[in-house]
Parts: sequence; C-alpha cells; structure tokens
Amino acid sequence: MLKISVIGTGYLGATHAACMAELGLDVVGIDTDEKKIAALSVGELPFYEPDLPELLQKHIKGGKLKFTTDFNEIADCDVHFICVGTPQMKDGLAADLSYVKSAFAAVAKVAKPGSLLVGKSTVPVGTAQALAATLPTNLELAWNPEFLREGFAVEDTLRPNRLVIGVTSDRAEELLKEVYAQNLKENTPWVRADLPTAELVKVAANSFLATKISFINAMAEVCEAAGGDVTVLAKAIGYDPRIGNRFLQAGIGFGGGCLPKDIRAFMARAEELGASPALEFLREIDSINLRARQRVIDLVRTELSGSNNMDLKSFKIAVLGAAFKPDSDDVRDSPALDIAAQIHAAGADVVVHDPKAIEPAKKRFPNLKFAETIEDCVRGADLILHLTEWKVYRELDPNSLKPLVKQTKILDGRNALDRDKWRQAGWQFHALGRS
Ligand code: UGA
Repeated sequence: MLKISVIGTGYLGATHAACMAELGLDVVGIDTDEKKIAALSVGELPFYEPDLPELLQKHIKGGKLKFTTDFNEIADCDVHFICVGTPQMKDGLAADLSYVKSAFAAVAKVAKPGSLLVGKSTVPVGTAQALAATLPTNLELAWNPEFLREGFAVEDTLRPNRLVIGVTSDRAEELLKEVYAQNLKENTPWVRADLPTAELVKVAANSFLATKISFINAMAEVCEAAGGDVTVLAKAIGYDPRIGNRFLQAGIGFGGGCLPKDIRAFMARAEELGASPALEFLREIDSINLRARQRVIDLVRTELSGSNNMDLKSFKIAVLGAAFKPDSDDVRDSPALDIAAQIHAAGADVVVHDPKAIEPAKKRFPNLKFAETIEDCVRGADLILHLTEWKVYRELDPNSLKPLVKQTKILDGRNALDRDKWRQAGWQFHALGRS
C-alpha cells in the first residue's frame, strides 16, 4: 500500500488529503501553520466546503489520515503532493512562487531515495523544470494539475473528469497510476504530458472558462444597449453542442482565488516568454470582468437617484451574498463584496448577508455592516442587490419580503432569480443584460 504526503492544507491540500484517504491510500497532511494542523487533526476545517469535514473525520478516526507540522513524519512516503498556494504578487501580475519553492526544498531534505515529488499547485509554465533541476538526483518530479471547483471539491477530486500528469519517466507514470488506481478503474480519462504541457493545461483551462464568462458578459452589455435578453441568448447559443450551455451565466463576473489571478499570471509569463501577443485577449477578458462590477454600481445609482452621478448617501442597500460563488465561504476577489464595498464608499448604508461567508467578509471589510438573517438585511432597504446565487436566495418569497423593505426594488446581479415571480409580487425587477 502506497503512503503519500500532502504538503499545504488549504482548499486544495485538505481536500486532496481526505480524498486520497477515501481512495484507500495512507495519507499524512503537513502544513507549517500549527493552528490549522491542530484543527484539522480533530476533523475541523478552517473554511466551508460541503462534505469535506465528514470525510476528514471518517479517515482520521479510521487511521488512514493524519496531520502534522513535522517534516520528519513524511520521510517514509512514496509520493509527495505539493498543494501550497501561488497567490498574485503584491507588486505585479505574476504568481508568488515562494511557498512552492520552500515546500519542494523542505520535502527534498527528508524524502527517501526514489520517492516522487508531485506538484499540484497552479504555476507559471517552466516552474516544474526549474524545480526539478534543484532536486537531488535520487528524487523525481512530476506535475499533476488540479481542476477542483470550490463547493464541489470532494466530488471533483473523487470523480475527476480527467487526470493530467506531466512526467519525465515511465516509472513516475506507473507510481501515479498506483495512486489513482481507483479512478482508472472507473475509466477516468488519463492524459500523459511533458512537464510544460501539464502546467499549461491548467492555466489554459482556467483562461478558457474566464473567457466564456466574459464573452457572455460582453453579450450582456450589448443586450442592454440593444434591448435584448442575455439569458435567452445564452440558452439559445448553448444548445449548440460545440458551444455548450455551461459557464454562460451572465452577471457580475468571476472572482475567487483562481480565475482572476491565473489569467493575470498567465499574461505575465507569456510576456517573459516573448509570447505576449498570444494572450493579449486575456487583458480584455479581465477588463470585461471588472466592468461588470462597475455596471452594477452605475445601475444602482440610476435606479435610486435617477442619475449616474448622484451620491448614495440617503439610501439603504441590502446586499445578498458576499462569497465569490455559492456553496463557498471564500471571499477572495469576490465580485459581490467588491460591489458592496464600493457602494458603501459612495455613501450608501450597506448591509450584507451571506449564509456562510460573513466572518471572512468581516475580516476583509470590517467597516461594512453585516446581518445574520435575510430579514434583518433587507429591513428598511431602498434596494436589494442579489450578488451571490445561494439556493436560499433563489427560493425567497418576494411577497414575504415586501412588508420589510422601504422600496420594492431588486437588482439580480447573477440572473438567477425568477423574474416573473418577483414582478407578479409587485417588485421593480432589474437584471444585468435583460432589458
Ligand atoms: C475554478 C475552475 O472552475 C476549476 O476547474 C479550477 O480547478 C479552480 O478554479 C482552480 O484553479 O483551482 P473555482 O474558482 O472554484 O474553480 O470557481 P468557478 O466555479 O470556476 O467559478 C469562478 C467564478 O466565476 C465565480 O465567481 C462564479 O460566480 C463565476 N461564474 C461562473 C460566472 O460568473 N458565470 C458562470 O457561468 C460561471
């Protein structure tokens, strides 16, 4: 039976560790953050991810999974997965590789001869080859990018839609086939690549997804100008199987810890490689995305004051949603929270609600007001902004909210609410990209 380690226990690492235990491997998760390791050791997650706490607890109790801060405890592992973060640099577009470099160095110090170090973090192309050159000759490196989505992290890891491995030998591929034996039994597509291609697959996939979202948001802008309806347009083009209907939800755009920083790091890397014209379009993808946030702010102004320039001082605005997407408490680069903060800065009395992300949102924006319940959030509001499409918001009864608000106005920033239901209940309903 293979024994593996997982270095870095954020979203990616904690999920990978628990899921690899579920697939039958013996797993040691390791992190330098003692508080995080203490919590994980008793099955507690420092973030919200459906189904993950149960999986952690199951395998900690069953003895297949443990967590430590001591690198000596991973010395006997056959395979080491490096899952640390690669955030955007504070002073530019590029990715900060310092965590990846120190993780590889720390593992290399203790790893037994013949073991395989596998990078899962999203890195600029060329990183793997550069790291391989720093390793002792008795250790080998592979790259195995991750495609999990927050909110579906467990499902995506246990049943991935493909496994991509960048390797430089058959032996490394065989070891990884042993790790993923259960997935292979279930016929998960297996793509063997060289190291640079494996790294590129990840950023290319995220760039494509970002492009799809910005494409539909560009169409939303045109629909607004021309009197069309982007939701109908998206449905109609999505029936073409070459286009497909997923990731065509127009609204306030993409955020989170991955898509925005990955397209920026990709552009930065292309420039270093002398290939910047190839990715020039990503600059436009980024600006369409950020423009969606500004369009909401402009709409709020026209909705409330009848003009684009007036300040919002006398208005109360209820913001439903703080997380960058539903089923997550992640507020990194959250379009919802960014809009809330900008409207607050324009003078409005803003109150934010989110089913899971209030605490992380408070940490990021301590000056914003937060409400524990939807009712408290909307009480006395001149306008409700629906910015993260949690199920509880989609299921709201517009009639029951009516007596609580000052004005029955709602703006759906995610095109996820039932417009007819709200209008029939007497609300002024607006949405991005729908005339
Ligand atoms: C994304 C990718 O989808 C994963 O495949 C990848 O593994 C991950 O990044 C990563 O690099 O680790 P994630 O950031 O969890 O996953 O979120 P997505 O589901 O991709 O959503 C990203 C953003 O796009 C959210 O803010 C969401 O609200 C927005 N979005 C998504 C839209 O505005 N419209 C859509 O149609 C779909």
